[in-house]
Amino acid sequence: MFRIAGRIAQMEESATLRMAHRARQMRQSGADVINLSLGEPDFDTPEFIVEAAIKSLRSGATKYTPVAGNQELREAIRDKFLRDNNISYSIDELMVSCGAKQCFANLCFALLEEGDEAVMLAPYWVSYFEIVKLTGAQPVVVQSSVENNYKPDLKDLRKALNSRTKLFVFSTPCNPTGTVFSEADLRAMAELFAEYPDVLVISDEIYEYIQFGTNHFSIASFPGMKERCATINGFSKGFAMTGWRLGYMGAPRPIIEACVKIQGQFTSGAASFSQEAATLALRSDLTETYKMRDAYELRRDHLLEQLKSIPAFRLNQPQGAFYVLPEVSDFFGKRYKDVQIKDAEDFALFLLAEAHVAVVNGIAFGAPQCIRISYSISEERITEAVERIRKALALLH
Ligand SMILES: Cc1ncc(COP(=O)(O)O)c(C=O)c1O
Repeated sequence: MFRIAGRIAQMEESATLRMAHRARQMRQSGADVINLSLGEPDFDTPEFIVEAAIKSLRSGATKYTPVAGNQELREAIRDKFLRDNNISYSIDELMVSCGAKQCFANLCFALLEEGDEAVMLAPYWVSYFEIVKLTGAQPVVVQSSVENNYKPDLKDLRKALNSRTKLFVFSTPCNPTGTVFSEADLRAMAELFAEYPDVLVISDEIYEYIQFGTNHFSIASFPGMKERCATINGFSKGFAMTGWRLGYMGAPRPIIEACVKIQGQFTSGAASFSQEAATLALRSDLTETYKMRDAYELRRDHLLEQLKSIPAFRLNQPQGAFYVLPEVSDFFGKRYKDVQIKDAEDFALFLLAEAHVAVVNGIAFGAPQCIRISYSISEERITEAVERIRKALALLH
């Protein structure tokens, strides 16, 4: 028999995908399941981007691309970083990958070895933890709490750093919390990392364009930080292009060179027509992007208002992305019929079974007291979902 490598047994299955699969199964058996577990926009890609890809395919963009990305796209990325983030990258400090996820994977495989440590803020995006583990390095987690709106105490962050630390990763706005790190937060972080010149700071800014009433700041824009940061971004969220598989990053040249080497062996350059269409997206006036952002903001307000009817949910105040991460541990230990809710996974399964609402439990995000609710869905469905959750929770005692 085939023997599957040990690293696969060490790997967690994606909680988000597992929940989506369960929800799909219930739907197939006829249930009207409301899916609040999704990590992607419910909007279609704006029409002008789709048209650009079709045109690109028709004009023959069907071949391999340069591993680091098309020159035109990298020029658009360079201009975007300057326009939106006040970071001045040269073309050889930029690369395009098959998603922001691949940017992060490239960085981890370029930097991490067994014995190294990678520090991350909890709650974290699940893939940070799993990809770090795949390299043989050790993920080190810095906790935060809902009371602080999931912003860490920098004293705890400092305690986690040592001579084995190779990288630090965080996202702003954050998945799964929706927390946005302000200019002042980032300045304090930058000052801390000035004392650790051997640590690469990875700022994942994939939700940059989904922020409500706050300005986006990039930690790499502070003086002296560009040289010690990697800034990751992509098209999946702000342009509703999850299926196009396209992300990018700026980082110091030796790091980009190492990442290009890895990507050249793993996947080669990202899809040709995705890149041509994305060039246009980045050079657009972002009208379509901001329309989607405004819709998410209304949904966020609506969801938070609805959730007030469940006082046992301890809510955070998300300022971006499309998630809320309430603490639900008040329900642990409660029962319905012969089911006892022991943890967040049981809680999510209970909601699926009794309310026909799919959410993701927080365990894989390093938030075992929480569930993640995605509001990438219409306001009507949000209203109905919360009403169903409220009714189901009344069954517990
Ligand atoms: C914080 C964060 N980073 C990266 C990604 C992956 O983005 P991409 O689709 O560009 O690989 C996601 C997707 O859910 C995310 O939430």
